[in-house]
Amino acid sequence: MKKYPRTEKYASDCVSANWMGPNPLWLLEELCEHMELKPGMKVLDMGCGKGLTSVFLAKEFGVTVFANDLWISATENLKRFEEAGVADLVFPIHAEAHALPYAEGFFDAAIAIDSYHYYGADEAYFPCTYAKLVKPGGQFGIVVPGLTHEFEKGYPDTLKEHWEGEMFSFHSKGWWRHLWEKTGIVEITACYDMEGPKEIWRPWAKWAKANLGFNDVEFLDSDTNDDIALIVMSATKQQNRLISGSSPCGSI
Ligand SMILES: C[S@@+](CC[C@H](N)C(=O)[O-])C[C@H]1O[C@@H](n2cnc3c(N)ncnc32)[C@H](O)[C@@H]1O
Repeated sequence: MKKYPRTEKYASDCVSANWMGPNPLWLLEELCEHMELKPGMKVLDMGCGKGLTSVFLAKEFGVTVFANDLWISATENLKRFEEAGVADLVFPIHAEAHALPYAEGFFDAAIAIDSYHYYGADEAYFPCTYAKLVKPGGQFGIVVPGLTHEFEKGYPDTLKEHWEGEMFSFHSKGWWRHLWEKTGIVEITACYDMEGPKEIWRPWAKWAKANLGFNDVEFLDSDTNDDIALIVMSATKQQNRLISGSSPCGSI
């Protein structure tokens, strides 16, 4: 498997005490190869979960992070940020993706690791909500679980037994690219499937089976045609533009 040298600095027991899906630091380190993050930048870490990625962003790049999550409380995350010594750079926020408390154009970058597919797979979310948060010239980056291509039924036959309703937000890289590209708001700077997605997913799958009774191991094992993907996509926001007509999105 590809090496992630920055991630190696973080104790694996600390990662597995806080991960909520396939090693979020591996996914973030891969994404960061396509983003330019510098000290002083304001970064939204959407769906940060227990904040592993927020700590990583602050420590590795010196950016100021708004660690936004829904399922995990801000108070709980604040304790983790204090313990990690980054509470002066990372601000925990509890907010739902459609009711975010941020000013338009506030962020230099918005990142979402294993999270964007939960709220961002509808056509209007990016142009009407998410894209507004980042300033012109700013950056976006996501890593999402998905499929190597689109299937008529939404999933391949091999995955039928373990397919769950929420997985209908699993799509191909081409689908994700089109979702953002067609808005004209961004230029896509990278969009590809990570190498060895099941190898990346498996340590979490084993942990989640043993600790939470999840069936990710069976899900991965059933993928005999290698249709499962982990998709990396980054983009840069174009300069200000106006959507014409009576769009409720208005100026973005
Ligand atoms: C699979 S977890 C991943 C968490 C973390 N990024 C990680 O990899 O460990 C998905 C995260 O997305 C967040 N999320 C899901 N739906 C959301 C929504 N509607 N608004 C805000 N966050 C949401 C959840 O709170 C959850 O922490």
